[in-house]
Amino acid sequence: LQSKLKISRDLILAEIDPRIYGSFIEHMGRAVYTGIYQPNHSAANESGFRQDVMELVKELKIPLIRYPGGNFLSGYNWEDGIGPVSDRPKRLDLAWRSLETNEVGIHEFYEWSQEVGAEIDMAVNLGTRGIDAARNLVEYCNSDSDTYWSQLRVKNGHKEPFNIKTWCLGNEMDGPWQIGHKTAEEYGRLANEAGKAMKLVDDSIELVLCGSSSGQMPTFGDWELTVLDHAYDTVDYISLHQYYGNQDDNLASYLARSLDMDEFINGVVAMCDAIKAKRHSKKEINLSFDEWNIWYHSNEHDQTVKPWQVAPPILEDHYNFEDALLLGCLMITLLKHADRVKIACLAQLVNVIAPIMTDPEGEAWRQTIFYPFMQMSNYGRGNVLTPLVESDTYATADFEAVPFLETISVVNENELVIFAVNRGEEPLDFHVDLGDFVVKGIREFSQMSGFDIKAVNDARNEIVHPSENIEYEWNDTKLDVKLAPLSWNMIRCE
Ligand code: AHR
Repeated sequence: LQSKLKISRDLILAEIDPRIYGSFIEHMGRAVYTGIYQPNHSAANESGFRQDVMELVKELKIPLIRYPGGNFLSGYNWEDGIGPVSDRPKRLDLAWRSLETNEVGIHEFYEWSQEVGAEIDMAVNLGTRGIDAARNLVEYCNSDSDTYWSQLRVKNGHKEPFNIKTWCLGNEMDGPWQIGHKTAEEYGRLANEAGKAMKLVDDSIELVLCGSSSGQMPTFGDWELTVLDHAYDTVDYISLHQYYGNQDDNLASYLARSLDMDEFINGVVAMCDAIKAKRHSKKEINLSFDEWNIWYHSNEHDQTVKPWQVAPPILEDHYNFEDALLLGCLMITLLKHADRVKIACLAQLVNVIAPIMTDPEGEAWRQTIFYPFMQMSNYGRGNVLTPLVESDTYATADFEAVPFLETISVVNENELVIFAVNRGEEPLDFHVDLGDFVVKGIREFSQMSGFDIKAVNDARNEIVHPSENIEYEWNDTKLDVKLAPLSWNMIRCE
């Protein structure tokens, strides 16, 4: 099987917004309690946060973390999470049928996010609440004036404003499961008014409007067009959410799911631009793919979980090698759209559909999907090049021509980095025409291949991980590589 990539400095598509490597922590399952926060654990710091988890989060170099939900958000009172912990109410979390202790709230999460070097992408509840709670939260977090809310933050121990720049206007408000679910008209009006008030408090913030909770929603399209029409002048981004799974156990189709993501993004970009044209607006709305991942392994188990527990083990997908390959294809797809996708959040980060897992009595460990995410987040910085690709293809029930090769290249002042997936079960010849790039050497060629596609990692054994590949030839004009069957690859050129 054959494939070719042509690169050149003339092909720069966009500067990558680092927030494309964002992630997500929701108050649900074991994401917060026994995930990032577990005061009785031997690795906990004096604030109760697990340092072993922090170390792994730092390996992922995550610049932005969406918080506190998710479906949880739509029944959450942010005021429950401030003030002395002993006074905080324990509440029913109706979204996940769990108990929320509120031991962690905005102050604690802010402290944790600073430790791991991430900014917060804060979400306001537009399910059970509205404009007032939203603008108060902005004032509490970002104002340094002598007002009730900012002085309450000072009294609660934080003199300086948190200065949170990115804000989500609710979560999945198109979904009938959402507490306070709304029609597009209702949500569009509310989001616009809440957003206006939030920007009146702090005009430096950026706002994310809820798009559809998946491309398969029956309201997809109408929802985007309606809510954008209401809130176009107020917001900066529209959200996309999508989860993928291999329910049919069909590897070839599964690895082609990133083509769905590609179509979804193209569709939403087209709708943003349609409203721009209709309104004769000069402003461009960009995309925040603020929930994306693989989610299906845990579905059956989760039907059996007893309700009303604190931190029940739900959505704990154990990812295998084929999931790591798809995750690589999905990340490459996001980068292919870096001109419009400015924010993306891998949902989620710890224990809940996550790259990082914790054993409450033991250590934190890395799932298979950790590695492609980590390598792209660490080395996929700078400018992305439009991929000029030729590849042999295969057909699936949904797509006539799925390329065996999925690839993207990134260039920065230090290096040129090529990320590539071979979707096929045969080796794939990969010829790279380096164009005007002068390559002095190969700094690193890392690959994940050769594992059983169903192999998983666990706390004792991270079997699925990258290793070095030495099978390549290069000179200053071209690079020839044999990509191993079913492989994830990262080539860093000096
Ligand atoms: O990430 C898990 C859930 O998926 C989120 O709470 C919700 O927004 C989405 O449906």
